[in-house]
Amino acid sequence: MIKDKQVKFLYLNQKEVIQCGALDMFMVMGQIENFFSLHDNGETIIPDKVTLRWGDASSEAVTGRINAMPGFVGGEINTAGIKWIGSKPLNPTKYGLPRASALTILNDPETGLPIAIMDGTIISAMRTGAVTGVATKYLARKNSEKAAFIGAGTQNHTQLQAIMTAVPSLKEIVICDLSEDRLKNFVNLEKTRWPELSIKYTTSAEEAVRDSDIVVTATTTLNPIVKANWIKNGAFLANVGNYEFEFDAIRKANKIIVDDWDALVHRGIQTPAIMAKEGLLSREDIYAELGAIVNRKKEARQSDEEIIYFCAVGNGGEDVAVAKKIYDKALEKGLGTYLILWDEPFWI
Ligand SMILES: NC(=O)c1ccc[n+]([C@@H]2O[C@H](COP(=O)([O-])OP(=O)(O)OC[C@H]3O[C@@H](n4cnc5c(N)ncnc54)[C@H](O)[C@@H]3O)[C@@H](O)[C@H]2O)c1
Repeated sequence: MIKDKQVKFLYLNQKEVIQCGALDMFMVMGQIENFFSLHDNGETIIPDKVTLRWGDASSEAVTGRINAMPGFVGGEINTAGIKWIGSKPLNPTKYGLPRASALTILNDPETGLPIAIMDGTIISAMRTGAVTGVATKYLARKNSEKAAFIGAGTQNHTQLQAIMTAVPSLKEIVICDLSEDRLKNFVNLEKTRWPELSIKYTTSAEEAVRDSDIVVTATTTLNPIVKANWIKNGAFLANVGNYEFEFDAIRKANKIIVDDWDALVHRGIQTPAIMAKEGLLSREDIYAELGAIVNRKKEARQSDEEIIYFCAVGNGGEDVAVAKKIYDKALEKGLGTYLILWDEPFWI
């Protein structure tokens, strides 16, 4: 029997989450690789995302959504939790606010009680970058030199950070967006972070994609951007946003790899899921899920000529895996504020 029945949880604001190492891509990629290994071994529980939105799927590009993303991650992480993440695409231009904002709750899997509530915004962007980073490590050509990033928003900053961690041979990047302002802001910021990189910008996706060894799309587009005949042999393609690659671009790939086929199909808005809905793609067409690559059950890249397409829909387990590391660091550093849920339970 537990004697002290007081329940309190640790609240961490965004600054504290950062102080606990959330911007350390090396750490985040480690947790994400660990997550995928556990996921492949059946040591995670990832219920489907629940999407609250103000219309049909296409409304998400305008009026946005709020997603509830629960997950349990076993192994040494052994923590349950949920990310509750709002996405309002007009925020950056209308209010000067980020598109996405998130709270992450961690729970003790034994009692179910909350142990922490923290800003999930930074963790979410970092773990999304890290998923591509882990995929890049296994699936991109080791000597990749040029990368194209379509979308000059939050995600591509962490995508770049992760790809630089995975493939330090990168020499040149091209960033593409429809907004000149966002392009210039992106370039100005990233030039200070990566002075050794050649960073160019363009409003032409074709110009960015042609001749690139790595292509990352992280946009809010409703219509596909990347065309099959722009993709060069040996390229690694990462579809982070939704319907961003035309169907023929997927068909051109020698290997199609996803984070989780069932979750991708359930969410239903990314290119492979749309193809699946139309009967044009099925589980048999998927070479592997990322966890099987990490656990070396399936070979990763097998030649410099292969085109490999990767699509991740993301899940709350990834956020829980990273948030647990942040929570542990907060305890170690004595950071955060304890909030009392109750001194004595009202009902038992
Ligand atoms: N797969 C995952 O796990 C995951 C996680 C987080 C976010 N996302 C997705 O990543 C995408 C980007 O997120 P963000 O936070 O960077 O958004 P953001 O709003 O900050 O940036 C999106 C950018 O895309 C640009 N864009 C829109 N249409 C374009 C087009 N046709 N060509 C070029 N650029 C175009 C916009 O101008 C904007 O600058 C969103 O769709 C989001 O849902 C995926």
